[in-house]
Amino acid sequence: MATIDNSFFPTENEIPNEYKLKNEIHQKSYLVGGEIKNHDGPMQEVLSPVCIRDNKGEVKQKVIGSYPLMSKEQSLEFLNASDKAYDNGRGYWPTSSVEKRIGHMEKFLKNMIPARENVINSLMWEIGKSYPDSAREFDRTVDYIKDTISALKDLDRISSRPVIEQGIFGQIRRAPLGVTLCMGPYNYPLNETFTTLIPALIMGNTVVVKPAKYGVLLHEPLLKAYQESFPPGVINMIYGEGRQIIGPIMESGKVDALAFIGSSKVANMLEKQHPKPNRLRCVEGLDAKNPAIILNDANLETTVQECITGSLSYNGQRCTALKLLFVQREIADDFISKFSEAVDNLKCGMPWTSNVAITPLPEAGKTKYLDDLVKDAQINGAKIVNPKGGKINYTFFSPTVLYPVNDKMRIFREEQFGPVVPIIAFDDVSEPLKYVEASNYGQQVSIFGEDPKVISKLIDPLVNQVCRVNLNCQCQRGPDTFPFAGRKDSAKGTLSVSDALRVFSIRTLVAAKYNEQNKELLEKILDGDNSEFLSTHFIL
Ligand code: G3H
Repeated sequence: MATIDNSFFPTENEIPNEYKLKNEIHQKSYLVGGEIKNHDGPMQEVLSPVCIRDNKGEVKQKVIGSYPLMSKEQSLEFLNASDKAYDNGRGYWPTSSVEKRIGHMEKFLKNMIPARENVINSLMWEIGKSYPDSAREFDRTVDYIKDTISALKDLDRISSRPVIEQGIFGQIRRAPLGVTLCMGPYNYPLNETFTTLIPALIMGNTVVVKPAKYGVLLHEPLLKAYQESFPPGVINMIYGEGRQIIGPIMESGKVDALAFIGSSKVANMLEKQHPKPNRLRCVEGLDAKNPAIILNDANLETTVQECITGSLSYNGQRCTALKLLFVQREIADDFISKFSEAVDNLKCGMPWTSNVAITPLPEAGKTKYLDDLVKDAQINGAKIVNPKGGKINYTFFSPTVLYPVNDKMRIFREEQFGPVVPIIAFDDVSEPLKYVEASNYGQQVSIFGEDPKVISKLIDPLVNQVCRVNLNCQCQRGPDTFPFAGRKDSAKGTLSVSDALRVFSIRTLVAAKYNEQNKELLEKILDGDNSEFLSTHFIL
């Protein structure tokens, strides 16, 4: 593999002032049981994917801070704090009214806004996300919290109305599940962690959060906001090697809900560690290998543009990214030449470079992994078709288009989660359909074309294989009010603003025979405002 020259990475002086790392964060503090404590054990050094060139021209990943590496024994302190706050459903948090919990969440929202610039700066330096995408991640998360609050108000308004059926009075509400373990992914370390954390909290669960492997320090400016906004033990932040600290938590059997966004392999391992599988509810966002099916009559301009953003936004590090492009043979050459040209026109650089599209990669060993995938494809007959493709520079991998790809290659099956775009030419639509059917994944697909008959014939079988069929546009999660789900190894449960409130809760009810004696009792409870659950209080 050719290497591009070291001047790709900046010297310290070349970094614009407004984007310089605000502070190295050597985070010793952690939040457990409502207290911010100081860790005095081993620490994990955090390296940025961004490298710095020194005055001798040598290039090294920048050290941006460190975080606590907690032990197996320490991990139980976090679980116990969460368990104590839940207190078998008797704690303040699970027994609070929805209105009170919303009040705490609104306080958190107010407290998190001032951390915006620090969080964005951390996202850029920790995971190499561009400034506009980092800002979008923060703002989208704020909107997600606001939308969640308003969806919960709607849900609670419906639940405030008891029913009488077949002579039985009932009040049905959604109650929390219990102690919840939340683990987010590195590609959206704030947003995707919060898309499970926020609904879990607001529904009355108590939570242990383990940040992703990369994108840990960005939570540090939020620690105080968590502490000041929620009662003790409701949210606890644990740090360290997943293998060390998560095993004991799962093996305790005390976790009621697992929210995990990551690989299906790790999800399976975590689930197996739990000794009481029927107690554990799982909400998981896992692997995906979303294909694009590009038909003969596709509008090439739109298709190229959508396939560029679909396959290469944030370097292809999105679970929803297009990870395999099937192109009908008659237009394959034309598409490949336009697509490759567009790929080579993408701006490569640092997260602050204006209009940057491709940036350095945070995962250790990632460029080697991608290089191995490319070499394996070349051995099996593919070529790098874009002149600027296949170049490595430390943590940077230039966007690479591979063609023709076939089923002997690892890239045909493996989720590359990086800037490598494999292309396959097909003659008949049954070929991409068979790929989707045989795949272990079932998240989304994109179809590009204009013939309503051909597209309809694809939609009907595909909706039964994946959970979203996109027409003439890339695959994506948003808008966050749409259901986000997957089949096979791609997900468990459905997330969206309103679905997430449901997956982190269970319907439970109070029922009574509608006779004179019970009517009197119910009236006294309701009029006396004695219960938070059995109540007709309407949130205004
Ligand atoms: O990594 C997976 C994310 O849920 C994708 O979200 O489609 O909005 O980038 P997105």
